[in-house]
Amino acid sequence: MTDSRPQRILSGVQPSGKLHLGNYFGAIQQHIELQHQGDAFYFIADYHALTTIQDRAQLAAAVHDVALDYLALGLDPEQACFWRQSDVPEVCELTWFLSSVTGMGLLERGHSYKDKVARGITPRAGLFFYPVLMAADILAFRSDVVPVGKDQVQHIEMTQDMAEAFHAAYDCQVFQRPESRLAEGGAVVPGTDGQKMSKSYRNTIEIFATGKPLKKSVMSIVTDSLGVDEPKDPEACAVFQIYRLVAEPEQADEMARRLAAGGYGYGDAKKTLLAAIDEHFGPARERRAALAARPDEVAGILAEGARRARAEARGVLEQVREAVGMAGAPCAAPVP
Ligand code: ADP
Ligand code: TRP
Repeated sequence: MTDSRPQRILSGVQPSGKLHLGNYFGAIQQHIELQHQGDAFYFIADYHALTTIQDRAQLAAAVHDVALDYLALGLDPEQACFWRQSDVPEVCELTWFLSSVTGMGLLERGHSYKDKVARGITPRAGLFFYPVLMAADILAFRSDVVPVGKDQVQHIEMTQDMAEAFHAAYDCQVFQRPESRLAEGGAVVPGTDGQKMSKSYRNTIEIFATGKPLKKSVMSIVTDSLGVDEPKDPEACAVFQIYRLVAEPEQADEMARRLAAGGYGYGDAKKTLLAAIDEHFGPARERRAALAARPDEVAGILAEGARRARAEARGVLEQVREAVGMAGAPCAAPVP
């Protein structure tokens, strides 16, 4: 840190579908905890989502959903600045400044871009530029720490490179160097098929699913064919891997012991897991339902967050404009 301000923690979340337990234990839980350990800035990355969602009603609904999800799961607007990315359009301006010092080679090496192309997606320029917009998100708010999942670490390294390239090109020091921070243990949450839980694999257990749909997902978790009486290895069992995330440690020990001892079937383990998920996320579900009935309150929280975030970004952009030779307030001329 170059000054005595509190550590700035920043992360973005894409509004792209129903959040699942992988998202929660891999990212959201950490975001919520970190809001008490520094100056937390979290935003809903709707500009980024344009690379996948091109339906206005779907985008607006997805943004609202993520806002409800985060607030229900414990994001406290008194502790963390929370806004919608597109309410701070300065990040797009910074994207351009950064792109002008960024080599094509850096972006061509992007795993996320390469993976998508390898999967047959015809890339648009926005997908290629995704890491530059992400760097702008991080640098516009002078972020020190960026809590993300493993798949995003390369984007933070690219951000460091872009900041250095800008400093070298303009012989200045305007950006803070960001560091990534992985969720503790960096655990990958297994999905119902035993692979990494992910929307794209359709193997998720949704955080806010209840009743039959939730039961259906939990009961569909794939297990081996060992009979009830046989001893089972908890470490090789996706039901147990998920249970230990939602249950108390003593409860998890108890399930591990029962599985290992034999005489305890996967069906029973799944029922226990289902009850534990209901208990773990019950209070958040209630908060979400209550908030959903107060959309103005949610809009007000995001508006207040945007106001604060925008003031911060404008300060950084002023220095950036000055550094490149565009000093003076932008849009100084009155609008006719
Ligand atoms: P998905 O794979 O469902 O598309 P995203 O890529 O949108 O999920 O991930 C959003 C965040 O959640 C990222 O920080 C990512 O690392 C984390 N995450 C997603 N799935 C898992 C998982 N199965 N285990 C741990 N973390 C995960
Ligand atoms: N790319 C991130 C993801 O898919 C979301 C994101 C956008 C982000 N801008 C960011 C994360 C800035 C951290 C910092 O999960």
